[in-house]
Amino acid sequence: MKTHKICMLGTGLIGTFYTMTLHNLRGRDRVHAIYSRSQERADKFAKEWGIPNTYTNLDAAIRDPEVNVVVIGLPNNQHLEAVRLCAAAGKAILCTKPLGRTAAEAKEMLEIVEKAGIFHGYLEDLAYTPKTLKSLASVKNGALGRILWARSREAHPGPHSDWFWDKEMAGGGAIVDLGCHCIEIARNFIGKEVRPLEVMCWAATQVKPIDAEDSAIGLVKYANGAIGQFEVSWNYRGGMDLRDEVAGTEGNIRLDHFLRTGFELFTSVGLGGYVAEKAESETGWLFPVGDEVHELGYPNMFVDMFNAMENGSSPMESFYDGYVVNAIIDACYKSAKTKQWEPVQLEVWRGSNDIDESQVFESYDEEHYLIKTEILPDERKKIILKHKTSGELSQKVIDKAK
Ligand SMILES: NC(=O)c1ccc[n+]([C@@H]2O[C@H](COP(=O)([O-])OP(=O)(O)OC[C@H]3O[C@@H](n4cnc5c(N)ncnc54)[C@H](O)[C@@H]3O)[C@@H](O)[C@H]2O)c1
Repeated sequence: MKTHKICMLGTGLIGTFYTMTLHNLRGRDRVHAIYSRSQERADKFAKEWGIPNTYTNLDAAIRDPEVNVVVIGLPNNQHLEAVRLCAAAGKAILCTKPLGRTAAEAKEMLEIVEKAGIFHGYLEDLAYTPKTLKSLASVKNGALGRILWARSREAHPGPHSDWFWDKEMAGGGAIVDLGCHCIEIARNFIGKEVRPLEVMCWAATQVKPIDAEDSAIGLVKYANGAIGQFEVSWNYRGGMDLRDEVAGTEGNIRLDHFLRTGFELFTSVGLGGYVAEKAESETGWLFPVGDEVHELGYPNMFVDMFNAMENGSSPMESFYDGYVVNAIIDACYKSAKTKQWEPVQLEVWRGSNDIDESQVFESYDEEHYLIKTEILPDERKKIILKHKTSGELSQKVIDKAK
C-alpha cells in the first residue's frame, strides 16, 4: 500500500484545513514538510500536527528528498512560481483554488505540468462535498433530465488576510476568490464536456474601501443552452452562506452546505471558541457545522486525488478545470466593465464541439406536442397542447371522475 509524503506550502487557513483533513482522519498520507515564511510559525505548526521537517525556503521545502507530493496553499500570486519549482523538482502537485489569477497564468501552469509529465490536481473542494457528489451522481443518472440552470452562491463577511484584499496579489476580488468555486460547481452539474460560450456579469464595490469588487452576480451561458449562475459577496453578514440549486427538465436539487444545515445552538455565555468558518458571533443563536472538513469536501477531494495518483488516472478536478474556470472569470471581469455579453476565450478546449441548443419536444399524440399538464384545485386535469404543424395552442380539460 503506497503512502504519500506531502510538502504543505503555507500555514494559513487552507494549510490548516488541509493538514487537519489529512492528519485528523489518521490517513496514511502525512504532511512530512511544512513551508512558512517564518520559522516560528513553521515550528508551531509542525509541533501541532507532528510534522518532522520545517522550511522557510520554498525551493528547499519542495525538494525535501522524502516528499513526493506538494500541496500549494499560498496566496494566489504565488501559485505559478510554486508550480514552476515543483515541476523543476519533478514533484506531483495539488494546487488550491483559484489555479491562477488569470487564464494566461493558469494556461502556463497547465503547460508546465503537462510538459513535465507530473501529476496535477486542482483542489476545488466544493465540488466534492458529500451532498454535491450525491447530487452529481443523481444528475448523471438522469434524475433531473436535461440540466437547464445551475445556481451557486457563496457569500460571507470577507476574507481573513490582508493579501485577499489586494487586487494585484489576489487577481481580483470576490469573483476570483469565491466565484471560482461557484463556476466549477455549475460546470460539474451542466457537464464539463459542454463548452462555456459567453458571460454577462455585474460586479461592484458596494461596501469595502478596495480596488476590486466585493460583490458580483454572473451568468455563464453554455453551448447546450444551459445557464450557470453565480452570486458572490464579501459583504454578507452572519456567516458563510453556501448554497446551490440545480434545475432540469425532470427535477430540481437544492443544497445548503453551511450556516443552515439543521444544526442550531443557543448560548447566552458563548461556546468559548471557534464556531465555524466566517461565523461572526459566539453568543445567541449559532449555526455550527458538525464536521466542517467533510461538509466542505476536503476528505473526498484528497481521496480522489491520491487514488488518481496511484491509478495513473486524472482526478475529477485537474489543472485543466482550473484553467477553464480562470477563462470564465476573465470573461466576467471584461463583461463587468463593458456591460455586454463577453465570449469565454478558451485557447485550449478539450470538451465537445458537437453540442448545440437543439431540443426534442415531448409529443402528446401524433399531431400535438405536450406543453404541460396540471391538476386544478377542483381536481380537474388540464392538458395544454400545441399543434405540430399549425402551431395552434389548445387545452383539454379532464373531469375528476374520468
Ligand atoms: N476552500 C478552499 O479551497 C480555500 C479556502 C481558503 C483559501 N484558499 C486558497 O488558499 C490559498 C491561501 O489562502 P489562505 O486562506 O490559506 O491564506 P492565509 O493568509 O490564511 O495563509 C497564507 C499562507 O501563505 C503564506 N505566505 C507566503 N507568502 C505570503 C505573502 N507574500 N503574503 C501573505 N502570505 C504569504 C503565509 O505565511 C501563510 O502561511 C489562496 O490561494 C486561497 O485562495 C482555498
